[in-house]
Amino acid sequence: MKYYVTTPIYYVNAKPHIGSAYPTIAADVLARWHKIKGDDTFFLTGVAEHGTKIANSAEATGQAPQSFVDTNSEYFKTAWETLGIQYDDFIRTTESRHAAAVTNFFKKLKESGQLYEAEYAGLYCVGHEAFIKESELDEHGNCPDHGQPPEKTKEKNWFFKLSEYGDFLQEKITSGQLQIEPVERKNEVLSFIEQGLEDIAISRRTAKFALPLPWDASQTIYVWLDELFNYCSAIGYGKDEAKFNKWWPADVHIVGKDIIKFHCVIWPALLEAIGEKLPKKVFAHGFFTIDGQKISKSLGNAIDPVELSQEYGSDAIRYFLLRDIPFGKDGDFSPERLKERYNADLANGLGNLVSRTLNMIERFTPELDPDLPVASSTLVQKLLYEAGILTENLDFSSALENIWQALGVADKWIEDNKPWELAKQNKTKEIEGTLAGIFSILVAVNNQIAPFLPETHAKLTKLLEARPIKKPQEPLFARKS
Ligand code: ME8
Ligand code: MG
Repeated sequence: MKYYVTTPIYYVNAKPHIGSAYPTIAADVLARWHKIKGDDTFFLTGVAEHGTKIANSAEATGQAPQSFVDTNSEYFKTAWETLGIQYDDFIRTTESRHAAAVTNFFKKLKESGQLYEAEYAGLYCVGHEAFIKESELDEHGNCPDHGQPPEKTKEKNWFFKLSEYGDFLQEKITSGQLQIEPVERKNEVLSFIEQGLEDIAISRRTAKFALPLPWDASQTIYVWLDELFNYCSAIGYGKDEAKFNKWWPADVHIVGKDIIKFHCVIWPALLEAIGEKLPKKVFAHGFFTIDGQKISKSLGNAIDPVELSQEYGSDAIRYFLLRDIPFGKDGDFSPERLKERYNADLANGLGNLVSRTLNMIERFTPELDPDLPVASSTLVQKLLYEAGILTENLDFSSALENIWQALGVADKWIEDNKPWELAKQNKTKEIEGTLAGIFSILVAVNNQIAPFLPETHAKLTKLLEARPIKKPQEPLFARKS
């Protein structure tokens, strides 16, 4: 089976923060899970480098836009490397392979007869890179998300007949051919469609640093369409047909809930217009605040995931983000709770269980052959089997909860059997049975944590494969502060 998973491509005007790390980590876990399962897997991430917002940020730093994006896209690559993100491709929208594919895409769109030219008057929010309605502005006439007034525009643009796709989209979504998860987001999209769709401008006259519209030099391609097409350009659209046909359609687009209209309405309609298949699933995760406050440039509260992982290690960040906030729900990121969970679940939880178990084996049964079949816990088997299904369904927090419940079974096994007491009584058979059983839970848990905690998995694998078994020389989790 093939599996193609994507993340949003992030605007490079700001450095990566904990918010952009979130879907990237989720996609990485999913991709690793499918790779371990043996699926032929492709994991795409990347950055969005075109548009007025980027051009303005470049200007503010006194850099030419291309050198600005060249520098800033590296921050994303570095951050993802630090966080253990193993993508298969990283697309940048200023790459020539992308521009060529987008040009092909627009030619197809034009041929489809779904475009027309019209005069458009509207309010454009550069922060969103999207038109905004008067009714959406706050009492000061600003965009509520960006705190800036929109630009009044009146220009001739090319339009796409999105208004004609309502019934088509409704049918695809209700039939499950285009899955939207979680269900709240599916309902949101369906009610948006029910209100009636409006045609959308697909080109702009005044945008800076954007691709030209192939047939009209006075216009540039609307950045959002340029960005959406990354999912196809990266896998060879219009260039490498075999590659494109192998991977398309995407099995899941992971996106934030802020961009579902683009992914669940505009994107599938555009694909239908050019005769391509729709993605199988769009999964929209929730948004989190930091200590109760919206992440914002003006507050300067964006958390740098690289700095955070220097203190805790990247696995702890991966664990916390996916464990603490159910994927699909909104939540709050609190550095204090990160510390608590780090101590409770990782250092004192998994870390402690490993060192206690291996220590007891070294002391009480140094000759133990852990490869002998042992009576295994059916509860642990069930918990871990379900964890796999939950991971596959992007319910990462429940998957991790199951895995930690399995660790709880091992802890209880130790408490109930007290190997140190058995040792005093020289009950060798019983000690062996208990410690081999607990060891087998560690082995099984280690397999399940592999996609979530790749570094820990590698360290633990070494410990569990060493013969004779010895207690760890260093703790599995050690915070540097
Ligand atoms: O929208 N909580 O890029 P972007 C959770 N270029 N997730 C968050 C978050 C938060 N507080 N803040 C950001 C764009 N995100 C477009 C995408 S895709 C073809 C084009 C995550 O840099 C969330 O996934 O604004 C959101 O959708 C994404 O970052 C937006 O990144
Ligand atoms: Mg944004």
